[in-house]
Amino acid sequence: MIVVSNRVSVPKAAGAAGAQGGLAVALNSALREHGGIWFGWSGQETEEFTGHLDMQRNDGITTATIDLEPQDIEEYYNGYANRTLWPLFHYRIDLTEYDRNFGEGYERVNARFADSVLPLIEEEDLVWVHDYHLLPLGSQLREKGVKNRMGLFLHTPWPPTRLLVSLPFHERLVASMLEYDVLGFQNTEWLESFLHYVQKEMGLKVNLDNSIEYQGRRVIARAFPIGIDFREFTEAAQGAEAREAHDRLKSSVRGRKILIGVDRLDYSKGLGERFEAFGRFLADNPQDAGKAVLLQIAPPSRGDVASYQQIREDLERKTGHINGAHADVAFVPIRYVNQGYPRAQLAGFYRAADIGLVTPLRDGMNLVAKEYIAAQDPENPGVLILSQFAGAAHQLKDALQVNPHSTEHVAETIRKALDMPLAERRDRHAKLLASVRENDVQRWREDFVKALVGKNAVRTGTTEHNEA
Ligand code: F6P
Repeated sequence: MIVVSNRVSVPKAAGAAGAQGGLAVALNSALREHGGIWFGWSGQETEEFTGHLDMQRNDGITTATIDLEPQDIEEYYNGYANRTLWPLFHYRIDLTEYDRNFGEGYERVNARFADSVLPLIEEEDLVWVHDYHLLPLGSQLREKGVKNRMGLFLHTPWPPTRLLVSLPFHERLVASMLEYDVLGFQNTEWLESFLHYVQKEMGLKVNLDNSIEYQGRRVIARAFPIGIDFREFTEAAQGAEAREAHDRLKSSVRGRKILIGVDRLDYSKGLGERFEAFGRFLADNPQDAGKAVLLQIAPPSRGDVASYQQIREDLERKTGHINGAHADVAFVPIRYVNQGYPRAQLAGFYRAADIGLVTPLRDGMNLVAKEYIAAQDPENPGVLILSQFAGAAHQLKDALQVNPHSTEHVAETIRKALDMPLAERRDRHAKLLASVRENDVQRWREDFVKALVGKNAVRTGTTEHNEA
């Protein structure tokens, strides 16, 4: 198996800190079990691109990385990936920038990825490409003669056709994706948007099993909702490092209720709206002033992109405003932390928290919601408040689902969660836990690989496990 993603991110020790997205977490688990090579950008810059492969073995995973030129990083990563596709795919066309240089840089870097990974691909290998950075990689590899089975899994949402058509050369981009054998999405909503596009804009035929007829081939398109490494995470949650983190957080709040949010610092995560909702809760519930703390862990991400600098400033202002209004000499209601923590410590923080606040405005899946559930004490679990616009909302029906744009709704739901009787908390948690356990990362990987291998793989309809 050759796995390709923009970034290769293997934890050096038992738990990696930093701004790890769901992709890194899931691929680490998938590769550790299945073996293979993980290829991508090192995250490093080089004056002139050489295509030199740096091969390493870390924590049981073989990685091969290349360095990119400053112009590549600017046009491909900061540009087309994170100033064009990311906002567009998260329905933020107000933030989407269309610049021809970005598009050219994106094509160039995808071609560089293709040239560099080519010598690693052997005849029977499966090639599994990940995410919006590398949509045309499959077609670039086909042009270089690769006949292997190739699949793409998109970790983000897929936008509605009406938004996608605002992208110059949208049809070329989507046509390049049809060179893969399998296209995977996080849920049926994004899958349906994709199928709508190929039917409406390209006039292609979609079969009953959602495969797409394209130039005499059948491209499988399906939902494969990603999960967490349930066993690894629950073990981590019960270990000494998690217990120590749990106790440290608990003792620091002196009996107050804890709400926790853990997100990359990204405008798609709805952090500003979340802070406002918490401020609203404090204003509407003066009897609770001083009795609840919001711990927001938000490691910075993509700091060279203006919209990320903007959201960072915005959150600093909002935190200052809310803390100024509701703090007293011995207490601040929002603890806003711009750093990442090892996963075992995060598990301890989740377990200590009475409420998990996962309120993205749009999110492909959101594994924090699943980690929060997995880390709870089943005898006395916390309550998950989950945005209806997270991919995870399709599976986690027993969370308290909210519209993150409505500060009133989120504030009322915080009240409801704090007042929820133990029996209801246990009941909801047991159902959520069953879903998180069943739909874990191993199942995601197995389902995708089965479809990619192409044997006994295609079930009819979409297979969004546990989706009502
Ligand atoms: O999970 C979505 C994602 O964009 C991944 O592709 C990426 O690895 C992660 O978020 C973190 O983003 P970045 O590598 O830009 O910091």
